[in-house]
Amino acid sequence: MMTACAQAQSLPKYLDETIPVEQRIDDALSRMTLDEKIAVIHAQSKFSSPGVKRLGFPDFWTDDGPHGVRPDVLWDEWEQAGQSNDSCVAFPALTCLAATWNPQMARLYGESLGEEALYRGKAMILGPGVNINRTPLGGRNFEYMGEDPWLASRMVVPYIQGLQSKGVAACVKHYALNNDEEYRHQVNVVVSDRALHEIYLPAFKAAVTEAGTWGLMGAYNLYKDQHNCHNNIMLNQILKGDWHYDGVVVSDWGGCHDTDQAIRNGLDMEFGTWTDGLTMGATNAYDNYHLALGYKRMIQEGKYTTKELDDKVRRILRLFYRTTMQRQKPYGFLCSDSHYEAALKIAQEGIVLLKNDCNLLPLDLKNAKRILVVGENAIKMMTVGGGSSSLKVQREILPLDAMNVQCSMFNVQCDYARGYVGDTVQSYNGVTVGRSIAETRSADELLKEAVERARGADYVIVFGGLNKSNYQDCEGHDRKEYGLPYGQDALVEALVNVNKNIVFVNISGNAVAMPWADKVPAIVQGWFIGSEAGEALASVLCGDVNPSGKLPFTWFQRLEDCGAHALGAFPGTWREDYKIIDEEYKEGIYVGYRWADLPPKVQSSKFNVQTSKPLFAFGHGLSYTTFKVGKPIANSQKLTANSQITFTIPVTNTGSRAGSETVQLYISDKKASVDRPVKELKAFQKVFLQPGEMREVELTIGVDALSFYDEATHQWKAESGKFEALVGTASDQITGKCEFELK
Ligand code: BGC
Repeated sequence: MMTACAQAQSLPKYLDETIPVEQRIDDALSRMTLDEKIAVIHAQSKFSSPGVKRLGFPDFWTDDGPHGVRPDVLWDEWEQAGQSNDSCVAFPALTCLAATWNPQMARLYGESLGEEALYRGKAMILGPGVNINRTPLGGRNFEYMGEDPWLASRMVVPYIQGLQSKGVAACVKHYALNNDEEYRHQVNVVVSDRALHEIYLPAFKAAVTEAGTWGLMGAYNLYKDQHNCHNNIMLNQILKGDWHYDGVVVSDWGGCHDTDQAIRNGLDMEFGTWTDGLTMGATNAYDNYHLALGYKRMIQEGKYTTKELDDKVRRILRLFYRTTMQRQKPYGFLCSDSHYEAALKIAQEGIVLLKNDCNLLPLDLKNAKRILVVGENAIKMMTVGGGSSSLKVQREILPLDAMNVQCSMFNVQCDYARGYVGDTVQSYNGVTVGRSIAETRSADELLKEAVERARGADYVIVFGGLNKSNYQDCEGHDRKEYGLPYGQDALVEALVNVNKNIVFVNISGNAVAMPWADKVPAIVQGWFIGSEAGEALASVLCGDVNPSGKLPFTWFQRLEDCGAHALGAFPGTWREDYKIIDEEYKEGIYVGYRWADLPPKVQSSKFNVQTSKPLFAFGHGLSYTTFKVGKPIANSQKLTANSQITFTIPVTNTGSRAGSETVQLYISDKKASVDRPVKELKAFQKVFLQPGEMREVELTIGVDALSFYDEATHQWKAESGKFEALVGTASDQITGKCEFELK
């Protein structure tokens, strides 16, 4: 009988867990044949790549998506595989997570999703997405974390750490500059180095350098005329060079177009390529992938050595050791109470109370007799649709059902009127769930019915907004207009005429035009919030939960108020051959509040336009209680390259309900050799307070918070001189300032 010790000695190095991983990788690599190496760098099915069976590395399975684990599709087709064990919990879409402004929620999100992925046998989740919300028309903004690089960075790091703590790789996407959808395969983004590094890259950089993401997905679009899935600057120079990334670069599905570039420019794993080049693809065409037999031939013919190949394989083996070969992983579980609790908590914390005149909310159900719920979004499932993040859920609580439950507790009649018809299709990519919402009545009849029922109701609560169908917040298409679809504006106006106690709950991942905003006393941003949607919304509307979400983007009044649109810099200009559309980000670093903050004089002198103030500012979000944010006190008036300043800010809950406030710290550079935004978010903290309670929030910054990207030297640079720390509860609610100096 062999002793344990003898057994360990006979283990090949690559299997010996006592040996450092890098040595195990070397050993495994030295044992692999050319065919085995070529096999691991490209897909073998829609969502898997092979391991190295001979050596005991299992197949590598990945799956969408950022908000829950996508149901299985067939081996080589997009149709549902029809499994009975792939109904998941849908977590809130990432705009909602960002709106919590609570990194602990991101950690919880990542951990819960990781457990679901483990149960489903997925070693990598294709997410999270951190593309910047540059325009409210961006179809996939709902999947991303808003407009601000600092907020997105603080939220993406714990998400990745939580996910990877379960032995499941993140695949942060879509790197980079994939800020709109309609022409995502043809857009060549033209952007200044400053905007690239200050706005569009920081969240990816944080994902790599702080969270240590194991995977990263290249974007479909081009930058400097090269596709981002094999872009030399993006992948070789910035990601792998400057940021020392040691993980794998995965192509977006069908994002690889050129064999030589794929070999040389940093792509490690090719997925989803449509190899016939005419339609959406040939059957089982994996051997024809760029990183498959063609590449092998080039090596055999001497065009390439195995230098590039070995680097790719090394990274993939590292990924295997981190995931499929990692034996310390916990077991996963699906649809647990804890996952539903996490989904609910994140949703409740992310819902934003945009407006609440005369404290119309929370609903006073104790003193009500009848409420009217209006709108298709009260009865429509939102976890199905929108593209690759679409899910098959075990359950989704609809707003109307949850409102019914709340009303029944107080013996209040909960009436419903459809109000409008949007999209009655309740299935997507073969997943059909939920009750039928077919409707035969005309728009006029629906409007009339809603108005009639609204008369005399104690409250009218409209659940409207977008719905993830084509052009209404979805992958592959941008929205065609900023206004609400399906005649919702007319509906709201008609309802306001007969009932003043109206609440509009907007379901979307983007801002929408609200021409009636001053007539509607209460407005709530309800996002796409997953399995517990109805429950979360009802708990906020009825006051069981005090809202504490803050907008992760600027809510412009009109589309033209957003920099990209004010400057006509969307969607770009087609080249003569109609193959590429150049999209110049003319607003540069002035995205979101950085644009809205520009004084009118500066807007007109610099850009020759004038835009109006946002309807709701970045960072805005109300509560059912009130807070007093006191004067910030700095522990020093001077900062040096190696020191930090801590600002202490007293926050008091001055109302009668427990609640959370998010203290935001923006930095303003008083004088600089380059253009700088009026202010930039550099620290924040959410604090929970009982009525009357006071706490001191401490926010610390270092010299990084003062830096800009210097295009001349390609370095971050902080110039000495005067700065101001602006503290407040929204980007337009600055309550205190502190001046300091960088020496
Ligand atoms: C999307 C990715 C997704 C992939 C796989 C692509 O079309 O852009 O975000 O992960 O498909 O479904």
